[in-house]
Amino acid sequence: MSPATDVAPATPARIATKRTVLMCKPEFFTVVYRINPWMDPALPTDTALAVRQWQSLYDTYVGLGFDVHLIDPIDGLPDMVYAANGGFVIDNIAYGASFTYPERQPEGPAYMDWFGANDFDVRVPENVNEGEGDFLLVGGVILAGTGFRSASNSHEELASIYGREVVTLNLVNPSFYHLDTAIAVLDDDNIAYLPSAFDEEGLTILRGRFPDAVLVNEEDASVLGLNSFSDGYNVVIASRATDFERQLRERGYNPIGVDLSELLLGGGGVKCCTLELRR
Ligand code: ARG
Repeated sequence: MSPATDVAPATPARIATKRTVLMCKPEFFTVVYRINPWMDPALPTDTALAVRQWQSLYDTYVGLGFDVHLIDPIDGLPDMVYAANGGFVIDNIAYGASFTYPERQPEGPAYMDWFGANDFDVRVPENVNEGEGDFLLVGGVILAGTGFRSASNSHEELASIYGREVVTLNLVNPSFYHLDTAIAVLDDDNIAYLPSAFDEEGLTILRGRFPDAVLVNEEDASVLGLNSFSDGYNVVIASRATDFERQLRERGYNPIGVDLSELLLGGGGVKCCTLELRR
């Protein structure tokens, strides 16, 4: 049979691969300081609700067959639930975090201790960086954010540690202060992003490298819809990001909504609560 020439290309088949992640139960979660525009210490927080919502994310990952590891939460470190900031792990090498604000600085050594105890090759950072909050692996390339948290010299450090290409992107909107609030990695070739979170230089890079990227609207971004975690097929997202959900479905992904409204009070969502461990 000769191939049909007048048929629109089918949605590509999406392939899920099992992930290994690190999470931290929000037993001590609350908002007592303000280091991003989402946080307001005057608003009440409900720790028990945060734990229940976090548990639903944990259960979703287990249901997807992920290998989920846990680090013990520490009293007095309310943001420790945002495990993505605890480091960056590829090729069994764990590049430790060095936090911007003093309130979170003790989390850096706590996470490095966990990596060491779990047989990762730990690299103590020389530069300020907030781990996978600002560093995203897409295929073989590391997209690296700067502007609010991670210092640009951490990008050079990353490149020399991993021997991979590191692409610097400047973040410009204080509400999208970590790269993982402005870009979602869907698989090795595809991303979704919020254009207004980047400067012209960054947009030129993103358009050039990812001409088919999903462009997410402001409304979905403002519930941290982009702060999501994909296994290549299943994409765990904020349940309130309904247009993003539709966009993902149209492209052959399987969006799974989770409600983390309580953790949004700290300025984090699905991805912030998830650190991928790559051996
Ligand atoms: N309250 C935390 C902070 O401002 C939230 C971190 C969110 N994490 C993330 N990966 N975007 O540092």
